[in-house]
Amino acid sequence: MPTALITGATAGIGAAFARRLAADGFSLVLVARDHARLADTAAELRKRYGVEAEALPADLSADEGLEAVEERLRAGVDLLVNNAGFGNRGAFLDVPVADELRMLRVHCEAVLRLTRAALPYMISKGRGGVINVASVAAFFTRGTYSSSKAWVVNFSQSAAAEIAGSGVRVMALCPGFVRTEFHERAHMDTSGIPGFLWLPAERVVDEAMRDLARGLRVSVPSARYKAIVGLGRLVPGNLAGRVSTRLGRR
Ligand SMILES: NC(=O)c1ccc[n+]([C@@H]2O[C@H](COP(=O)([O-])OP(=O)(O)OC[C@H]3O[C@@H](n4cnc5c(N)ncnc54)[C@H](OP(=O)(O)O)[C@@H]3O)[C@@H](O)[C@H]2O)c1
Repeated sequence: MPTALITGATAGIGAAFARRLAADGFSLVLVARDHARLADTAAELRKRYGVEAEALPADLSADEGLEAVEERLRAGVDLLVNNAGFGNRGAFLDVPVADELRMLRVHCEAVLRLTRAALPYMISKGRGGVINVASVAAFFTRGTYSSSKAWVVNFSQSAAAEIAGSGVRVMALCPGFVRTEFHERAHMDTSGIPGFLWLPAERVVDEAMRDLARGLRVSVPSARYKAIVGLGRLVPGNLAGRVSTRLGRR
């Protein structure tokens, strides 16, 4: 039975990955900080899908947490989903530098270290995959969040190119707005975001799994967000930046 390790598996997109991969017959290793919620999530998945689900509590902004997950990955998993992440509300100059650095740790350092820990086993088997959850924000200018996600996209494409021909795939997943706990946790007001811009987490995950199977290196779920990303590349950078910054300030 193949094994998948998912970070941020107790809520939102990560929880949708856990359900989908359990339904596909994967054994799961679930990572998040909240021990009790992690144990509940693992128990629920075992009961509902009859799969193995291991809870691995870890804070990916701390060395200890990163080391624990690296160790588990070195022992061998077939699919890694680097999904854990969060937003900081407010403009760059208003957000404490420590919070921005914590974001870089979770969005960039953790993605780098966990990918690095997971790939040798996968390459030795000649198969496997890494999905790094970025965002459509990667294609716009919206502070440290979008900068960190742009790094995730570039890093994933670079890693995919380096290991081409090994049988292992690395893909950046770039969702648009998804109703999860993300915005509430960051105290963001989402009332001005039109309904058609929201995607269900299940759809994002289904498109990601299809795109990974097709060998894509960057997945942007839904035609509407493919169009938005395409348009964003055409309009002058400062205009796209102004619009996305206004949305980000909410
Ligand atoms: N929602 C959107 O609109 C949207 C759009 C584009 C991209 N994304 C990206 O999608 C990913 C998942 O976001 P989501 O919307 O599903 O968020 P969410 O509902 O808030 O879930 C976040 C998950 O990450 C875990 N987590 C947070 N910080 C962590 C840390 N330091 N160490 C370990 N686990 C941590 C949380 O559990 P604990 O709190 O227990 O640790 C939780 O399981 C993120 O990378 C986000 O940037 C989201």
